Amino acid sequence: MRTEHAPTIQRADYRPLAWTVERIDLHFRLDPTATLVTNRMVCVRNPDAGAGPIRLWSEALERLSLTVDGKAPVSLREADGQIEIDADGERVLVEVLTRINPQANTTLSGLYQSNGGYFTQCEAEGFRRITCFPDRPDVMARYTVTLEAERDACPVLLSNGNLLEQGDLPDGWHYAKWEDPFLKPSYLFALVAARLEALEREVTTASGRKVLLQVWVEARDLDRCEHAMESLIHSMRWDEEAFGLELDLDRFMIVAVSDFNMGAMENKGLNIFNTKFVLAKPDTATDIDYENVESVVAHEYFHNWTGNRVTCRDWFQLTLKEGLTVFRDQQFSADMLARAAGPEGAASARAVKRIDDVRVLRAAQFPEDGGPMAHPIRPDCYQEINNFYTATVYEKGAEVIRMLHTLLGPEGFRNGMDLYFSYHDGRAVTCDDFVEAMAEANGRDLDQFMHWYAQAGTPRLSARASWDAASASYTLTLSQHTPPTPGQPDKRPLVIPVALGLIGPDGQDCPLQLDGEASPGACTRVLTLTEAEQTFRFVGLTAEPVPSLLRGFSAPVILELEEDDARLAFRMANDADPFNRWDAAQRYSERVALALAAGIADELPQAYVDAFAALLNDGRLDPAFRAQALALPTEGYLLERMSPADPVALRSAMVVVMHGLGQALADDWLGVCDAMQVSGPYRYHPADAGRRALTGLALRYLCAAGDERGLALAQARYEGAGNMTERFAALAALVQSASTASVPALEAFHQRYHDDALVLDKWFALQAGAWRWNEAAPRTVECVRALMADPAFSLSNPNKVYALLGTFFRANPGEFHAADGSGHVFWADQVIALNARNPQVAARMARALENWRRYTPALQASIRPQLERVLASEDLSPDVAEVIGKALS
Ligand code: PHE
Ligand code: ZN
Repeated sequence: MRTEHAPTIQRADYRPLAWTVERIDLHFRLDPTATLVTNRMVCVRNPDAGAGPIRLWSEALERLSLTVDGKAPVSLREADGQIEIDADGERVLVEVLTRINPQANTTLSGLYQSNGGYFTQCEAEGFRRITCFPDRPDVMARYTVTLEAERDACPVLLSNGNLLEQGDLPDGWHYAKWEDPFLKPSYLFALVAARLEALEREVTTASGRKVLLQVWVEARDLDRCEHAMESLIHSMRWDEEAFGLELDLDRFMIVAVSDFNMGAMENKGLNIFNTKFVLAKPDTATDIDYENVESVVAHEYFHNWTGNRVTCRDWFQLTLKEGLTVFRDQQFSADMLARAAGPEGAASARAVKRIDDVRVLRAAQFPEDGGPMAHPIRPDCYQEINNFYTATVYEKGAEVIRMLHTLLGPEGFRNGMDLYFSYHDGRAVTCDDFVEAMAEANGRDLDQFMHWYAQAGTPRLSARASWDAASASYTLTLSQHTPPTPGQPDKRPLVIPVALGLIGPDGQDCPLQLDGEASPGACTRVLTLTEAEQTFRFVGLTAEPVPSLLRGFSAPVILELEEDDARLAFRMANDADPFNRWDAAQRYSERVALALAAGIADELPQAYVDAFAALLNDGRLDPAFRAQALALPTEGYLLERMSPADPVALRSAMVVVMHGLGQALADDWLGVCDAMQVSGPYRYHPADAGRRALTGLALRYLCAAGDERGLALAQARYEGAGNMTERFAALAALVQSASTASVPALEAFHQRYHDDALVLDKWFALQAGAWRWNEAAPRTVECVRALMADPAFSLSNPNKVYALLGTFFRANPGEFHAADGSGHVFWADQVIALNARNPQVAARMARALENWRRYTPALQASIRPQLERVLASEDLSPDVAEVIGKALS
């Protein structure tokens, strides 16, 4: 039984190290079970720090020797994975020889093997699993790396930077020597030694330098790299144009690996990617996969400046690079979509992207911010940093940057970025440094804005309004409140940009004129809320307007606004802001679903059906937008809005909504399937993708409703599909129905793609996420258990775990929380099994139950003993211990 938890690390405890590293020369002799690593580093006293020993970190290393200037150190102390060495003078050469076992490394952190090749993952603290080193991001050094491996097993030898030389060695071995000209922290170190082939392209940068781009994959995947390469080239161009930032190396490499804990990693000049975010061809990847590849390639590429050239002083500053880089990749994707859509469709294309991003925020970040793991985008403490690669640090962090962009305007933001780079290029800095550069460049005081970095919890924004017919004025009172979160009982008011419009009774936006202004101005404007409550008085109106608040989701808050069915329907039909039009539909669905779940209603209001029909049949609206507007909110988000959360009741409600909309609008849905057909060969283009998305949604509703024509159509579309997007959409519709047609379709799909790992992930996920449409069907947990026995499944491969277990635990609450508790017992079994192999993956799965206290008493009674069972299990990693400890505290 475990009694103590991992120690907590505090942001306030940051101290510079007494010694840092100036340069490091690494030598690897790669062997599956006994790799030898020689590390020769020049350690220098840090002028910014006081006296003290050299501190090195070491984890899971067999240390064979350690010398200082060629001699055994006079004094060396070792405890809790840290080594302290006393040294004299200003600079010393420390030499360390370690032996590691990549084959036995199932954590996928440090040096590990995948499909016979060698790969590294060092962020956040993997480098200390390769050699003894001051493994902190504020230690920036110059690296040279020599790799030696057997030529047959590993013909390709890669590391960061430029290739200096390569050649043969005796006994069938060979070597390559690399040098990275830029200073970098250890978390950006990488090596790859494997049997791979590259798609190559030579391009010229804005300043006229020729650079070599490579996408390295296994030979059989060479026909799936084109899209990643195109995405890389587009990213380069975009960063040059949008921010004046150019690639700084002669060579930029992307390597795909199928065993990877995360999406991808921005190692300097040698990005390592989960195959899922590199490989794409029409027969195996959906439109969404294409979109994801493009945005992840961009994200990692953009890190070269926001993350690598300017990096984080310590891991509490993670959002400095992640929030900013997510914001940059979101802007890039929006620009790419807008460009493809052309001038007519650009606004709608941008809105569709914004909706996607906000959907993720609401489904993943809002629940996190309301639970035991709630933390500010810049946390104050952690036990295990790997648990803080969160939706809060990434997605809410990006929202905070977006608010700066909104408050300062595009030009002001760009000026702030330029100043930030001019001050901090080549340094490891803090979030304060970033915001200070923004403030200075714009002559603005952003002190209050910094509360966004310090306070956890999703702020609530509420609005009260009154209409005074006599003076034709409309008074809007906005107030804000952020609920308490663990360790933060009281919150201060934040700076909240509120973009707003007022819609007249005719459905048209009114030009806005605040009391005291000479004349009316634009129809949408941004009010800046800085107090707990503020009042704004609009004049010059002719009738009482309907407010449209938080247009474009101008701040990451929950808008608490009482709107009745009629008003929601009105905004669904008329709001000039497409984001808010979508949001009105989401709010309406939320009302309807929650009323059904609470037993207050037992069927769909006709007005709701009519409002959906109007959107569905509005041919002027872009199909991609219609697909967004007609899709229901995620269950994860709705459970957040339910108290207590009852996933089983919610599921029944969702079935009623899907069934009701499917049945009532069956003819319209069928009409859409007909009208939205895409001809010609597959191309990844937003116009085509929008039509496919709307068709896929139509099939979902029809099949959910059990409509015979819809089921037949889904089967026909499945069989006749010319690409994965259409094939998978049809299969998904069949699986999400009571029809038995899903069984042969799932079998046929498996047959066709049995040796394609990424496609099988979709097949696993689809079944793990399946609702139970038929009382006689087995529980989903039984299907998941059976699928674990499929030869293609492996607990050692994160993609498989995320697809099958992750989907079941996170995206299928109605089944996961089945009243008999079977899902909870299964969850504990899997978390315990994963903990022994891969703590990071285990902790991610563990988090699926962190919000258990929000559920009904019966569910809590079923979950608690399972949380306790995991906490009491042997050899619990700090990763899982932190999650479960916080959940139970
Ligand atoms: N830094 C990576 C990214 O956001 C994510 C990552 C974190 C990958 C930790 C691996 C390990 O681009
Ligand atoms: Zn990132």
